[in-house]
Amino acid sequence: MDKIVSLCKRRGFLFQSSEIYGGVQGFWDYGPLGVELKRNLKEAWWHDMISGHNELVAPPEAPSPFEMVGLDCTIIMHPQVWKNSGHYDLFHDHMVDCRESKKRYRFDQVRGRWCQKGDQKIFVTTLAEAEQELDEVRRRAMKFFKLRAKNADQLTVSDESLTLDQLDDTDDVLAPDAKSLGTLTEPREFNLMFKTTLGALGGEDDVTFLRPETAQGIFVNFKNVLDSSRVKVPFGIGQIGKSFRNEITPRNFTFRSREFEQMEIEFFCQPDQSQQWYRYWRDRRLAWYTALGLSSNSLIMREHHPEELAHYSVGTADIEYAFPFLPPGEYGELEGIAHRGDFDLRSHMEGKLDPKSPEGQPMQVELNEHGKPKYRGSGKDLSYRNEVTNERFVPHVIEPSAGADRAALAFLCEAYTEDEAPNDKGEMESRVVMKLHPRLAPIKAAVFPLVKKGGMSEIAKEVYGELKQHLNVFYDDKGTVGRRYRRQDEAGTPYCITVDGDSLEDRTVTIRDRDTLEQTRVKIDDLTTELKQRLA
Ligand code: GAP
Repeated sequence: MDKIVSLCKRRGFLFQSSEIYGGVQGFWDYGPLGVELKRNLKEAWWHDMISGHNELVAPPEAPSPFEMVGLDCTIIMHPQVWKNSGHYDLFHDHMVDCRESKKRYRFDQVRGRWCQKGDQKIFVTTLAEAEQELDEVRRRAMKFFKLRAKNADQLTVSDESLTLDQLDDTDDVLAPDAKSLGTLTEPREFNLMFKTTLGALGGEDDVTFLRPETAQGIFVNFKNVLDSSRVKVPFGIGQIGKSFRNEITPRNFTFRSREFEQMEIEFFCQPDQSQQWYRYWRDRRLAWYTALGLSSNSLIMREHHPEELAHYSVGTADIEYAFPFLPPGEYGELEGIAHRGDFDLRSHMEGKLDPKSPEGQPMQVELNEHGKPKYRGSGKDLSYRNEVTNERFVPHVIEPSAGADRAALAFLCEAYTEDEAPNDKGEMESRVVMKLHPRLAPIKAAVFPLVKKGGMSEIAKEVYGELKQHLNVFYDDKGTVGRRYRRQDEAGTPYCITVDGDSLEDRTVTIRDRDTLEQTRVKIDDLTTELKQRLA
């Protein structure tokens, strides 16, 4: 991982935000190569999911044809959105502070350790309160979000009489951090939404939040989209945009950031077809990552255990990738595909009372002085009428929710390769090459004159000018050709075009393939077409 991080900085894929001031944890800037990579990634998603979708024919494995439209909503929304979505009350992580080191931990990282007691394997934490709190985390997470405390379902017994010190000789440690932890404060709830205030006089009533997901903008615009675009269920709305979460412990490069981009689809369908659509989207989204170059050996589809599911959900699956910063056998979430039922539309329509919850209980809400829920929904009708059957229903939602930064990181990790290639003298030497899929590669081709003199620069500049109208190409005449190839290999550029002595005679150039190192001669007049074909 260190090599990838170093290449990202050296070649201008990623920089730490505000680096000259020491940086800000959890914020990252994309450099000249990184911004192109991320744009290409988002454009590939937008094209493949939204603009390039043919609504007239059912794609393979889809239950029927369907429409897809896009949306671009604001980051700051009406505060009521977050109250009715559940984020205001429930979008919490739990944190603890170490009294000695003053370090702060997300509670689910402080798992204590498993150890053997008699013939029983027990989980030991020094905090009795922590145990209770974890139950609370589990209860809430199951109800409203995916289970955040990943191993909580394995948590069985806690023996408060044991302390971590007494257990130093056990090597059966789940959380290596636990060893260095001293006494911990009690876990405290910590809402992950960034607060801000509206207007110059901003008081408590003007408090609002930066969105922690793009999804809610789609739900609250459901009726607008229906009324303005004449789409019919089943259909999907896609959105790409920034989201913000005040993560307690941002870590693993861009994997857990405080500002990140999401690529989300809310797919609205008939309740009785929702299972089929859930399976369709789960499989289709996995295939998207492999088509763009992630190895299927490094990807898993993790279906959530029924206990992990939110009460409104009949299925959630995470697409996970074996990021190199994780221990072997562990995977990190790239995308979640959730069956959200009619929870969101109903919440924004009626408020947070949930008549469908198994206990028939209202969801946890802040009550007003009359004991009634403080926030209600918009009161707007967000149901849908089937024009043929006249049936009115609240559509069910399948949500494939991907992170653009996590996907970019996974593609960077996958692309990083060390192999050998000939240098200027024809001797093999080691090289670092980013084997990015041509659709994702920041620069599609680089144009070099073999030497600056003798008219080669003039032809190379002409070639560059022509290609630049169609593709993101790069011109380089500095250093030996071998060095120039190496620079482009590290940037992930699939093709290098060299203008040499023969070009002056017959107006041909060589195209060198980044991965196979094969060189072919092509007429300058055919070059654009040839490259477009190769990059398609
Ligand atoms: N609307 C559903 C939703 O937001 P999520 O699992 O919380 O679900 C979806 O987030 C995706 O957003 C994740 O799979 C991940 O790719 C990305 N994501 C979430 N939190 C992130 C963070 N702190 N940093 C980078 N990406 C994040």
